[in-house]
Amino acid sequence: MVSNDCDLLIFGAAGDLSGRKLYPALFQLHCADLLPTDMRIIGLARRHQDRQQFLKAIKHRVDRASEGDPAAEQWARFCQRLEYCCIDFGKCEEYPQLAAHLSPGRRAIFYLATPPSLFGPICEKLGANALIDPQSRLVLEKPVGQDLASCQAVNETVAQFFSEENIYRIDHYLGKETVQNLLVLRFANRFINAQWDQSCIDHIQITVAETVGIEGRWSYYDGVGQLRDMVQNHLMQLLCLVAMEPPNAMTAESIRDEKVKIMRALRRIDAASVGAHAVRGQYAQGWYRGEAVPAYMEEADSDGAESDTETFVAIKAHIDNWRWAGVPFYLRTGKRMPEKLTEIVITYKSLPHNIFFTGENIPNRLVIRLQPNEGIEMQMVSKMHSLKNKMALARQNLNLDFLGSSGMNRIPDAYERLFLDVINGDPSLFVGREEVEEAWQWCDALIQAWQSQAMPVSHYHAGSWGPAKAELLIERDGRSWHE
Ligand code: BG6
Repeated sequence: MVSNDCDLLIFGAAGDLSGRKLYPALFQLHCADLLPTDMRIIGLARRHQDRQQFLKAIKHRVDRASEGDPAAEQWARFCQRLEYCCIDFGKCEEYPQLAAHLSPGRRAIFYLATPPSLFGPICEKLGANALIDPQSRLVLEKPVGQDLASCQAVNETVAQFFSEENIYRIDHYLGKETVQNLLVLRFANRFINAQWDQSCIDHIQITVAETVGIEGRWSYYDGVGQLRDMVQNHLMQLLCLVAMEPPNAMTAESIRDEKVKIMRALRRIDAASVGAHAVRGQYAQGWYRGEAVPAYMEEADSDGAESDTETFVAIKAHIDNWRWAGVPFYLRTGKRMPEKLTEIVITYKSLPHNIFFTGENIPNRLVIRLQPNEGIEMQMVSKMHSLKNKMALARQNLNLDFLGSSGMNRIPDAYERLFLDVINGDPSLFVGREEVEEAWQWCDALIQAWQSQAMPVSHYHAGSWGPAKAELLIERDGRSWHE
């Protein structure tokens, strides 16, 4: 067995992601005794602070994430792993100090929680200072680039220093328990897989809705928008996992091959089809749980100028292959929606002939809920008990509640799974080079189509399910969003 002895170096350790997700996840793994015994975690950032100040800041974030004060003894032991190093990532001459933090012979894992424009330069400087060896691993946070060209440039540069098998591109949605369960549902249950195609399925919806707005990230987000921030990665990954053929094995290579085939079969949305297939929205003022919410343009850190950046996207997509011919995939994602909700809804075709004379032909639905209340719900039709009305039918749910059935008191955060997989060298839940480039190619085409048609954003009230055009997108087909 390959040893999992390693040290982890986190570039961007003072950033939001590190405080909100990375250190809390590492702390949970530490408490569960899942980290290699001697693994050290070296936080790297430009901020001048000593180790004590750094630990204090991290403790604050871990407390918040674990909703309490972690046991003092556990925290003290976790701190023994933590180091801090102040470094300007742009200065090659500052990198030699990293050697003092690396243990000879032990694998180094370089985790880049930085903007993608730094991925290439950081690797070049690590390389120039001979800090990379053949067993080193590189973890790249999303997004890898801003479009196909910049993504290819990053991939080219990092490939000069790391082999593809040592590059772990994160899409944290792949680390979510229910996403992994989606694979199990599909490929460990024969009756599900047997009815997973155009002969039985009417359409599929994927919704990723967030109640939050831009949360202090306005200046970054305004140059990015919801398509690049959420669709290019999270929604496309979910789409691939729902639509792909069974991989030969649960290996990274097999899974990636199948995902790439789906991305290549995803019909491009061009200038002629964009009006009927994609909607862009931006939130205006509204209400959330009784409180007034500002418009996107009025968020505290906005620059006050007009912006046409989308905070909502709805798409009707088609996969041009044998399995999915004629089955639309409706995707929608937005900020400042009424609920935080991520779900995949499979609606089956209606019965070819209804013998129950109830008037309504109720289709089956399979709802795969990623958050909140992770679980799977099969909506079936069954008879209501009634003497008066002999054959009253109603939709009833078969529920699989993951938290309840796991015997755990919490569902692990996606980053816990992903850290473990990087440490143990299992890349199956990470994104391959071809996939990320295909995903950009598809999104670039859509962005160009929007630009060529000068398609402005449609406004929606914060706290609503998006602009009216998004309703129309699906209602035109005689269907409605699952709510
Ligand atoms: C990130 C996006 O990748 O995912 C954020 O950049 C978004 O804008 C976040 O808020 C959502 O993640 P989750 O796990 O809370 O659904």
